[in-house]
Amino acid sequence: MKKKIFVTRKLLKENEEKLQSLFEVTLNKDDKIFTPQEIIDGSKNYDGILSSVTDPINADTISKFSNSIKIIANGAVGFGNIDIQAAKAKGITVTNTPDVLTDATADIQILLLLGASRRAYEGRIAAETQNWKWSFDFLLGKQMSNKRLGILGMGRIGRAVAKRAKAFGMEIHYHNRSKLSSDLEDGAIYHKDIKSLFEKSEFLSINCPATLETKNLINKETLSYLEENTVIGNAARGDVVDDDAMVEALKNGKVFAYGLDVYNGEPKIHPEYLKLKNIFLLPHLGSATKRTRWDMAYRATKNLEDFFSGKKPQDQVN
Ligand code: DGY
Repeated sequence: MKKKIFVTRKLLKENEEKLQSLFEVTLNKDDKIFTPQEIIDGSKNYDGILSSVTDPINADTISKFSNSIKIIANGAVGFGNIDIQAAKAKGITVTNTPDVLTDATADIQILLLLGASRRAYEGRIAAETQNWKWSFDFLLGKQMSNKRLGILGMGRIGRAVAKRAKAFGMEIHYHNRSKLSSDLEDGAIYHKDIKSLFEKSEFLSINCPATLETKNLINKETLSYLEENTVIGNAARGDVVDDDAMVEALKNGKVFAYGLDVYNGEPKIHPEYLKLKNIFLLPHLGSATKRTRWDMAYRATKNLEDFFSGKKPQDQVN
């Protein structure tokens, strides 16, 4: 008998067809964003859930899941939306989708750094309103080429950002929980602590996952370690940044500009961000290419397939 899978979000057609060929599946044709209670009710007596970053699955929600649920395959590399310890305690395996979105997300991180530093938001408004003329001092930005780039979190995506930044002649510095092998470092300079990394960063790329330790890691104190006029890009998670402290730093010139794709409490956006000009906003597009979204759903499906055929899924995180 086919296993029953509850899919929380609409997937690309081919991904849904693949799932249907393997499992008895309930799809979300209207792509409604379910509340935790709707996920609990919808997945009653199912064997597994294919979730996404928009589903907050905390300990309370997990405690109310049917005992039949054995796996949550999150269709994302980040799994901060799921309490993986609570899942483990209930005997539920959690998987993610690493690797497949590394390039797309690193590409977006470069776009965020460039969009912020070269004042793309103000430029777009000036062009759109036909309110501009070329002049020697018109919308002068900060040049990214040949600067020092600090990377906070040198995992797969951090390293892919470093590779791209090198093409801009940037000198790469990083902080990570531990120093990487020289192979993986590939010439980047390790900093044992955030203070030392921030003091060196003319541009800063946030690439660490959202965890209890990284929540509000960018705050009033850590921002004070930066040089004046630093450019920051965040394609990781909104929770890593204390938004009030960032707004203050954007206003007082500590931060020249901030490019971000991810938000605290998405899809809401801190209202002050919408008023500032030295900001470049995107609506969580990091993995938004057709190929990447297809791969993410494919990988989540493979994790489900492996799990139910008795193999350890390659992307188990708990
Ligand atoms: C992820 O996979 O964590 C991305 O943020 C989804 O776009």
